[in-house]
Amino acid sequence: MTSADLLAEPRWAGLALSEVPTPCFVCDTAALDRNLAILGDVQARSGCEILLALKGFALWRLFPRIAKVLAGVTASGIHEARLGAQRFGGQVHACGPAFSDTEFDALLGLCDHIVLNSLSQLSRLQPRAAAFAANGGTPVQLGLRVNPEHREVEVAMYDPCGPGSRLGITASEMTPDALQDVDGLHFHTLCELGSDALARTLAAFEAGFAPYIPDRRWINMGGGHHITRPDYDTDLLVSLVGRFSERHQVQVYLEPGEAIALNTGVLVTTVLDVIKRDIDIAILDTSATAHMPDVLEMPYRPSVVGAGKPGEKPHTVRLGGVSCLAGDVIGEYAFDRPLRVGDRLVFEDMIHYTMVKTTTFNGVCLPSIAIGDSRDGSLEVVRTFGFEDYESRLS
Ligand SMILES: Cc1ncc(COP(=O)(O)O)c(C=O)c1O
Repeated sequence: MTSADLLAEPRWAGLALSEVPTPCFVCDTAALDRNLAILGDVQARSGCEILLALKGFALWRLFPRIAKVLAGVTASGIHEARLGAQRFGGQVHACGPAFSDTEFDALLGLCDHIVLNSLSQLSRLQPRAAAFAANGGTPVQLGLRVNPEHREVEVAMYDPCGPGSRLGITASEMTPDALQDVDGLHFHTLCELGSDALARTLAAFEAGFAPYIPDRRWINMGGGHHITRPDYDTDLLVSLVGRFSERHQVQVYLEPGEAIALNTGVLVTTVLDVIKRDIDIAILDTSATAHMPDVLEMPYRPSVVGAGKPGEKPHTVRLGGVSCLAGDVIGEYAFDRPLRVGDRLVFEDMIHYTMVKTTTFNGVCLPSIAIGDSRDGSLEVVRTFGFEDYESRLS
């Protein structure tokens, strides 16, 4: 038996995963197109505009494909904004907890919409936006992030509406005067959630911020909408957004990251060693902490092609990363046969919040990036990394 038996998953049959250098992220454009079709349909039926949140997915080689469907990008700061302006070609929004004067001035030249997180940021930076426009710069629409204090997210780390959150202005802080020359409001309350959670958020937002919605040109309903998940109720989303736009006469923006790249690809890794402790431990040429940090942060257990839960198949193995961190452990998985050095394993759904978050901790090499199309079997390794990438981040 070769490691090909471990890669046997019909979904990826069209991609030559046994041929890429490992570790390697492999993105399947067939899956991306499926997601884009769903998102395009939501835009067409609801009238909303969907922005790609670059924090979640920024494989810029695919931006031209995504830009055929989505309206633009949303950035957290100048580097993402610049990437969006240079490589995407649609609208560029920015939203972050705080911008320095210098960063804001740079954003003015890159963005068409900027969302500020506090009234103090607004009073400090709004005059800079006005001066930029008065000096001939293209006027930028300003928005304010509000916090509806409505909680939907169970994991505190990912809940922007928990007690004492630094993200967004609460209804009790708002004053009617504050919103002069503010074009839009922004809220972000969700993480990997359905449209039912948006329905509840909208009720809280409208209850808390009703006086401030009139006179706004747009409302940005943030990210965390898991629109491309098979059980997501897109009809409810379309009706919520369509009716909201109608009711308030505003443009609605959604800015998911994860929904664009959900289930669009994998991380391919090789077993470097198998050691025996309480159970067999396979050391992989990847790392949870360096290559898929959400596995430890969230935490969650990624699916591995051909593997089940511990005990479900005859051979249960703990999969460990290649860094020195004791906790660099991905989890325990059961296989049909014992793992061997040289076997390839495939972690599912590894395209969002992975390559945007990788580090070179321990000098671990960054995974290569490949783009393929499972419809015609094409596959190209578009980026490899080496010592220079590690060295260039230090001095
Ligand atoms: C303000 C804001 N917008 C959009 C997003 C994207 O969210 P997701 O990738 O979960 O859709 C996030 C994620 O943290 C966010 O904080």
